[in-house]
Amino acid sequence: MLKGMPSDGIRFDLDSIEIPTYPAPSHRGIPRGSSVMSDRKIFIVGAGGLGREVLATLEASGEDVCGFLVEGNFPAGQTAGIPVYNDSTMWLAAETIAVAIGDAVVRRRLAPIVKDRSFVTRHPAANIGPRVSIGMGTAIIGIANITCDVSIGDYVLINPGCTVSHDCSIGSFSNLGPSVSLAGNVHVGQGVNLGTGAIVLPGCTIGDGATIAAGAVVTKHVEPGTTVYGVPAKRSV
Ligand SMILES: CC(C)(COP(=O)(O)OP(=O)(O)OC[C@H]1O[C@@H](n2cnc3c(N)ncnc32)[C@H](O)[C@@H]1OP(=O)(O)O)[C@@H](O)C(=O)NCCC(=O)NCCS
Repeated sequence: MLKGMPSDGIRFDLDSIEIPTYPAPSHRGIPRGSSVMSDRKIFIVGAGGLGREVLATLEASGEDVCGFLVEGNFPAGQTAGIPVYNDSTMWLAAETIAVAIGDAVVRRRLAPIVKDRSFVTRHPAANIGPRVSIGMGTAIIGIANITCDVSIGDYVLINPGCTVSHDCSIGSFSNLGPSVSLAGNVHVGQGVNLGTGAIVLPGCTIGDGATIAAGAVVTKHVEPGTTVYGVPAKRSV
């Protein structure tokens, strides 16, 4: 695990359990610019710092969060006044689930288990423009600006203060750390980690699984699976 990258470290070992088939959650995502009181009962997977941020985002939207779900080797109890469940019964009973796991690899492993119960988590103050598509399970946990004509995949995490400009695409399971800025026409692959404050200049492509160090300024294409640092971003420190 790379230092400083999201690592809730939660391992979900539900492979042996038969997950029931759920109907699609009735209310997927939050209408633009509004705060919604809905009657769905939401559980959040992951009870760490990101879990509390997702809780804050959902509460800001008037949502009712019933509890956190963690794996059996994590303690049950309470976080932020909300119950934490670590038994498989609650995992199976939860009909609507928000994923709050920072580690994109764990998120990818979890996706097949929660996919019929996922929805878009979106802070009500996030500014999301026209022709923006957002995939299932993606979380926008603060005030981000996503201008127009943007495509965002499934289970992407967008932290507060991010800017995503026109004609960008972001692949599934990628993370945008706080205050990341993508200029126009940037294409981010799948499972990419962009560290806090990273800037990507117009038209650049970032390959699958790449890591962009905090504060880096990306001025050209980044190869899949590589880490780049600094200004301008390079493969060595
Ligand atoms: C790029 C990064 C992944 C490297 O992690 P790592 O492989 O564990 O690297 P280390 O901490 O061992 O540092 C290796 C070298 O890179 C340097 N370095 C680390 N991060 C750097 C950064 N953001 N910019 C420039 N240099 C950096 C270190 O100073 C060290 O240099 P040295 O060998 O001369 O001492 C990590 O430092 C980073 O930027 N993570 C982003 C965290 C973040 O913003 N997360 C968002 C959470 S919401």
